Amino acid sequence: MSKIKNNSSQELITLANEIRKNAYAKYSNYAVGAALLGKSGKIYTGVNVENAVYPLTLCAERVAIFKAVSEGEREFDAIAVVTDNGGSPCGSCRQVLAEFGLDMTVYIADGEENLLEETTAEKLLPRAFGAGDLP
Ligand code: THU
Repeated sequence: MSKIKNNSSQELITLANEIRKNAYAKYSNYAVGAALLGKSGKIYTGVNVENAVYPLTLCAERVAIFKAVSEGEREFDAIAVVTDNGGSPCGSCRQVLAEFGLDMTVYIADGEENLLEETTAEKLLPRAFGAGDLP
């Protein structure tokens, strides 16, 4: 976890790209990095962590969210997700992002740190199932 002031989308993207070196992606060789900006100003990074039992793999976005929540942070402004080719967050990650704020900004960038898309959790997962759907 790091803390920087005056965060810009580009700073988040750079952090997400730099942390990709720690991705444990020995099966797919597809390194993903995430950098999540909490309302406190703290930034939590994440990488994908794969497993020989493939379905146990955890995506970079969820690692970042779970790190943050376990540190006591529950509200977020933005997340940057970086892959070589600018891949978009998977469905499971979209649901987890939605849990912690439909208005969260999502920056999707490639390995050259080009911002390819700026969107929100709500746009990525319209009509998300949420706490309000539970009786
Ligand atoms: N992956 C992520 O980390 N985030 C996503 O949103 C999509 C996929 C990872 C999981 C796996 O380690 C690799 O990318 C290939 O699917």
